[in-house]
Amino acid sequence: MKRRSLPAPSAVVAAAAVVFCLSAAALPPTAAAVVEHTFIVSQVNMTHLCKETLVAVVNGQLPGPTIEVTEGDSVAVHVVNKSPYNMTIHWHGVKQWLNCWADGVPKITQCPILPNHNFTYRFDVAGQEGTLWWHAHVPCLRATVHGALVIRPRLGPGSYPFPMPHKEIPIIIGEWWQVDLAQVGFHLKNYMSDDYFSASTINGKLGDSYNCSGAMEDGYVLDVEPRKTYLLRVINAALFSEYYLKIAGHKFTVVAADANYVSPYTTDVLAIAPGETVDALVVTDAHPGRYYMVALPSQAPKPDPQSPVFISRGTVQYSNSHIPGNGAAVVLSSFRGEEGGGGGGPADDVPAVAPEMPDTHDSMTSFYFRGNLTNVRRPSVPTRVDERLFITLGLSSVCRRGQSCKKSDDDDNYMVVATMNNISFQLPEATTPLLQLHYYNISGKDTLQELPDRPPTAFNYTDRALIRSGPKEAQLEPTSKGTMARRFRQGASVEVVFQSTAMMQSESNPMHLHGHDMFVLAQGHGNYDAAKDVASYNLVDPPARNTVQVPRLGWVAVRFVADNPGIWFMHCHFEFHLSMGMAALFIVEDGPTVDTSLPPPPADILTCDPNDGLMPNEFYLQTKESEVPNIDGV
Ligand code: C2O
Repeated sequence: MKRRSLPAPSAVVAAAAVVFCLSAAALPPTAAAVVEHTFIVSQVNMTHLCKETLVAVVNGQLPGPTIEVTEGDSVAVHVVNKSPYNMTIHWHGVKQWLNCWADGVPKITQCPILPNHNFTYRFDVAGQEGTLWWHAHVPCLRATVHGALVIRPRLGPGSYPFPMPHKEIPIIIGEWWQVDLAQVGFHLKNYMSDDYFSASTINGKLGDSYNCSGAMEDGYVLDVEPRKTYLLRVINAALFSEYYLKIAGHKFTVVAADANYVSPYTTDVLAIAPGETVDALVVTDAHPGRYYMVALPSQAPKPDPQSPVFISRGTVQYSNSHIPGNGAAVVLSSFRGEEGGGGGGPADDVPAVAPEMPDTHDSMTSFYFRGNLTNVRRPSVPTRVDERLFITLGLSSVCRRGQSCKKSDDDDNYMVVATMNNISFQLPEATTPLLQLHYYNISGKDTLQELPDRPPTAFNYTDRALIRSGPKEAQLEPTSKGTMARRFRQGASVEVVFQSTAMMQSESNPMHLHGHDMFVLAQGHGNYDAAKDVASYNLVDPPARNTVQVPRLGWVAVRFVADNPGIWFMHCHFEFHLSMGMAALFIVEDGPTVDTSLPPPPADILTCDPNDGLMPNEFYLQTKESEVPNIDGV
């Protein structure tokens, strides 16, 4: 629910008045506002597939409320945690310029909001337009604690670099889980079981490809009028899969991704990985009727483990056209009807037309989709590079802490972790968030381990023989766990090549960086080879993204300027990879001026009271000791 420019409570006024004048009456309509929301996180029962499941949601809704802002606005979100879990909310893609304190990463930027505690996030949304989103940043709970964040241009929708849409619609692709998601997080982190979701969803609805006891699940319905342009703001909030999205009989024109405009690109299919957003125009120029909108999860082929393909099916439903004045319904008949069906009768009489979907194992459609995106502008891409990183992404095994083990799933001390350059991320031991230790220059951050420039050995990263464990693969594995971080001097220009490997799996990797957008210069299959691949870099109009999909058995090269002081999480947005340790911290040092330095923490910053029932390593899960599975370390 939108709550624009509400009169702010005095505390908010005090904090925001520094930046904005709140005398609403005196301001022109386009002046910056404070957009305020209250998010009550609580557990509610929802029933799907004949089973009632308790899920944590915001304000009783799934998806949660959409935050709508105009570029330049300030946002204040009062989070009231009535769930049994420790909670933080991350504003995914919001740059948080000089405001790392509001980034919402537990143990890194803040203490979590304990059950029955409150916290107010305050941040500005500046220099970004398009679609972003917000989600819980505690393991797995983002599957149900999420919503859209829509940023409109200050000069109004007439200033979009594309035709003004008739309507704008958030489309959130998600998953329905029938298990306790907090437990799934614990399992993933500890390599304990193969939990899996039960259905895909579009805007929280499963759709009519699911039924139980003869009752069909509701699907998402988009009611449209003929011959209009709709702007779909598509978000992938799923934990597990990249998705393909199609609407039978219609095309998309992609105009933005991750709140950055792209040159209009027309396609019949969208590819969207977890964490990404895609804004696409759809013109309702088909024969009036009903058309399925299908979201299909993709996955790596065998020998990677295979999952059932759970699609979600919604409907685009044309209204009959009404002649103003007499109310008579007229069926328009002058539209193209590409894929047949549709018919000419009243919309709900006809069966919906289904699109032909890519195969679940098709990774080329995603590769080409991404290869076709260019920046609508010619941004200033750094040409000088100060720091170069080559980061391999894969799985590996370790023994649980303090134990010895043999490489076998039968050995309880053996576990599989996810790595970057053979190191698996673990959260720091200290209860005080790292950003505070950093700001006050307190020791404790000396326990950080440096993210190396490259993996310990060079090898054929994409050798399919490595997917199945074996002596060759085992030799490449030596892996450690650590709180992996990399420091950048203020303003450093950084080039990162992410290389997906075949180590024990061959999945793609949607890599997300907090606090910065990255220019995507090039992507390729196989092993990155600087000698030839640098020539393919797009330094003219590369798209800027906060999440880059590193193709399976391939690579992506990005550049960004590390100019936002603070400690920023950089991780794979597949929840299983993140929980298993595919993460690192990018620490951007202060510069010489106030404008380039991390300001002091806000006065109302949360403190982590170790006596508050918070377990040091299970900060996210308010679990009683007896309920914690008996596993050492980690
Ligand atoms: Cu949307 Cu750190 O994540």
